[in-house]
Amino acid sequence: MEPMSFVLFGATGDLAKRKIYPALFNLYVDDKLPGSFSIVGVGRRAWSGQEFVCSVEQSIREFSRRDAIDQAQLERFLAAFSYAAVDVTKAEAYTPLLERVKQREDECKLPQNRMFYLSVAPEYFEVIAANIQTSGLGSVAGWKRLIIEKPFGRDLQSAEDLNEKLAKAFSEEEIYRIDHYLGKAMVQNLEALEFANPVFAALWNNRHIANVQITASETVGVEERAGFYEQAGALRDMLQNHMLQMLMMVAMHIPKRITAQDIRAQKRKVMEAVRPLALEEVAKNIVRAQYRAGSMGEVPVAGYREEPGVSPTSMTETYIAARVWIDDPFWSGVPFYIRTGKRMKEKSTRIVIEFKNPLEQLYREQQEKTAPNLLIIHVNPQEGIALQLNSKNPANSGKIEPVTVDFSSGQKDVPEAYERLLFDALRGDSTYFAHWNEVRLSWKWVEPILTAFERNIVPLVSYEAGTYGPDAAKQLLQAEGFSWWLDE
Ligand code: BG6
Repeated sequence: MEPMSFVLFGATGDLAKRKIYPALFNLYVDDKLPGSFSIVGVGRRAWSGQEFVCSVEQSIREFSRRDAIDQAQLERFLAAFSYAAVDVTKAEAYTPLLERVKQREDECKLPQNRMFYLSVAPEYFEVIAANIQTSGLGSVAGWKRLIIEKPFGRDLQSAEDLNEKLAKAFSEEEIYRIDHYLGKAMVQNLEALEFANPVFAALWNNRHIANVQITASETVGVEERAGFYEQAGALRDMLQNHMLQMLMMVAMHIPKRITAQDIRAQKRKVMEAVRPLALEEVAKNIVRAQYRAGSMGEVPVAGYREEPGVSPTSMTETYIAARVWIDDPFWSGVPFYIRTGKRMKEKSTRIVIEFKNPLEQLYREQQEKTAPNLLIIHVNPQEGIALQLNSKNPANSGKIEPVTVDFSSGQKDVPEAYERLLFDALRGDSTYFAHWNEVRLSWKWVEPILTAFERNIVPLVSYEAGTYGPDAAKQLLQAEGFSWWLDE
């Protein structure tokens, strides 16, 4: 890996503390950072370099997955850090920043490879990218790259505007749009599961798959983020990005080669084949819901409209479920159901693939039909793969019953999403970052849903906090004779 400078905008922020510093440190410990590097933190606060380094150290101690931290190693790592207090909206503030970056490059004898990371509120994305360009920070002898956090726009138009502005300073190949779901081990594993297993590759189509269910349920409510969430809702916060990315990863077809370019081309094809929703069809295919008061286990919790900072008449959805059709020869006729919500019964991100069961009536002497085979991919918080098969139960008069073959890696101390993503970006591998085409096509698909919500064409139903969501989401599947798996 080539030596480089890592310039982090938003260096005093929450994400930097919880995820980015611990991830960088873990990469360092695993020998996955270049031999020499400099990290320049950029923040608004008038901190001294010492104060900054102390806060980085604290965050590593608090959030690193390492049980034990070697003090000498940590100190060597921290020696790479320096801080620049910058008002990022002011062009003139970038001159001293550039000097600082260059000074560190000279001191550490680094070539001009610069990684810029925007871990800031979205209203600063454009101005920072423009100032990187005009200040000369982006004029490098080596490579430059930009890592950018979500949200990438709040609708198609704003995403296009943002992309156009970024494109003035960075080419598409230089932009790494983070979707942290793409950093999750089991989401990355989807590709291998299908492509490295001929058994599954042969079954990955509409001849054998009855439906696909993608769930991301959370137990947390809106937390302290009402200001953001009221404007976003589950559609913008989760569905447009994380859920559709998982859908693309499940549905993509085998590429010629396992390269970023080919994999992203396959994902794009999926998104292009997703059947667009006409405005009048939104209500039939989308469930929009908000949690009301309920209890999480034994603990009573407030409804969304009673949460601090939320309007008592809020129409923001905290839950969304969708039926998606992919109109290509592989998937036509297979519904993909996706759902995500806050204040649900359990924290679980999982993908369930239900196989067709043409022989379900074969065992006529049994009262019930045999259960379908299921492939279950547990993404989070457990990671694992389970396969539901049928087997005779000798202890129950040889009755055919479902059994589950379970594989859970159970490995501890594996890299976290941010480590994997940062490592890839530093190596210049963009496979697990959202390409502009994917972002654009996702917003395009979501657009009529946004409109339908704004115009209230889709009713906002409620669900009790601590449950699996509204009944309307069950009915969505009943239309095709299916039901959600693993809701207990
Ligand atoms: C974020 C959303 O992108 O993902 C949050 O903004 C959500 O609202 C989070 O809680 C969920 O991520 P994870 O990794 O906990 O499933």
